[in-house]
Amino acid sequence: MSAHGGSEPRGFGEPIITCVEDLRRLAQRRVPRMFYEYADAGSWTESTYRANEADFQPIKLRQRVAVNIEHRSTASRMVGLDVAMPVALAPTGMTGMQHADGEILAAQAAERFGVPFTLSTMSICSIEDVAAHTTKPFWFQLYVMRDRDFAARLIDRAKAARCSALMLTLDLQILGQRHKDIRNGLSAPPKLTLANIANMMTKPRWCMGMLGTRRRFFGNIVGHAKGVDTMAELATWSNQQLDPRLSWADVEWIKDRWGGKLILKGIQDVEDARLAVNSGADALIVSNHGGRQLDGAESSIRALPAIVDAVGSKIEVHMDGGIRSGQDVLKAVALGAKGTYIGRAFLYGLGAMGAAGVTKCLELIHRELDLTMAFCGRTRVGDVDRSVLIGGGVR
Ligand code: GLV
Repeated sequence: MSAHGGSEPRGFGEPIITCVEDLRRLAQRRVPRMFYEYADAGSWTESTYRANEADFQPIKLRQRVAVNIEHRSTASRMVGLDVAMPVALAPTGMTGMQHADGEILAAQAAERFGVPFTLSTMSICSIEDVAAHTTKPFWFQLYVMRDRDFAARLIDRAKAARCSALMLTLDLQILGQRHKDIRNGLSAPPKLTLANIANMMTKPRWCMGMLGTRRRFFGNIVGHAKGVDTMAELATWSNQQLDPRLSWADVEWIKDRWGGKLILKGIQDVEDARLAVNSGADALIVSNHGGRQLDGAESSIRALPAIVDAVGSKIEVHMDGGIRSGQDVLKAVALGAKGTYIGRAFLYGLGAMGAAGVTKCLELIHRELDLTMAFCGRTRVGDVDRSVLIGGGVR
């Protein structure tokens, strides 16, 4: 089965895309409601989800002029690996439900662009499937299950697929409630209820794609975890299988078993950041899971500076949450992030236009980052620090 890789040409009547918000609007039109809303949701009141985006706004950039900005570079490194810009694709569950073969298409787009793609444990396309359709190593995100043998086998499968980093998620031992998923009866594949059929009939591109692929189930789990032959509901499975006992001692065995670059995702607190340093991990991600877990947590961009101040000289600090533009990336880098991640932004591209939409999203963010850096009088992203922010970004 082939997964179509290349850019789709802009067809007659295709809308002009100028920013990530254009991709979001198009995705909302093209993706069935339950999957669009799975991505575009936070837990409970969604206050942290909203704050992640909104808290970038009060941070102001310093405009500088009459600096030679002819030659510029956004090239950077994340966990020792070369990246075209300090932006990676975050692991997102059910990516293959935003668009048929979604994980493969996004991984191929990331590979072409020169940024890392992170495959979620809760993906539709499996580790092996993504490896078979890409030529460069991708990253793998791990959830730890009660069935430790299964978690260990996932690590071994990521090794066998030559993944170049393991990202261990620490903030989803239990699942936060997302009201929209309950209302929509979220499942993969969707149940054929009257409401779902009526909604899918308004999304012909999505349906055609799904009819043309066999990848419609949780590919890393179904047929791999003992006794799991079918699995439709993320929430039910997560509640039964994810291990609420996960502790720093587990980080140790996971690190040993993996033996490669380890990134810890979901750090919001300075004390946890210090424990992450002690664990010997290569990087931590300041993250509140896109506002999908602890509703009321501080936004990631607000949590970032204190963590950089406390541990930034001992471990690589990355961040995710709320990034919708290159300006946002520049602000996060200025506040000390050595890498950033986009989740929803690339999902909107994928849902809107498949692989071409992910490429478009990366191009938009890259161009915004490049030009914004130049307007601040800087030519190399590696030289960007708090001095590009008014008042050093202190609020
Ligand atoms: C899973 O990672 C989710 O946030 O739904």
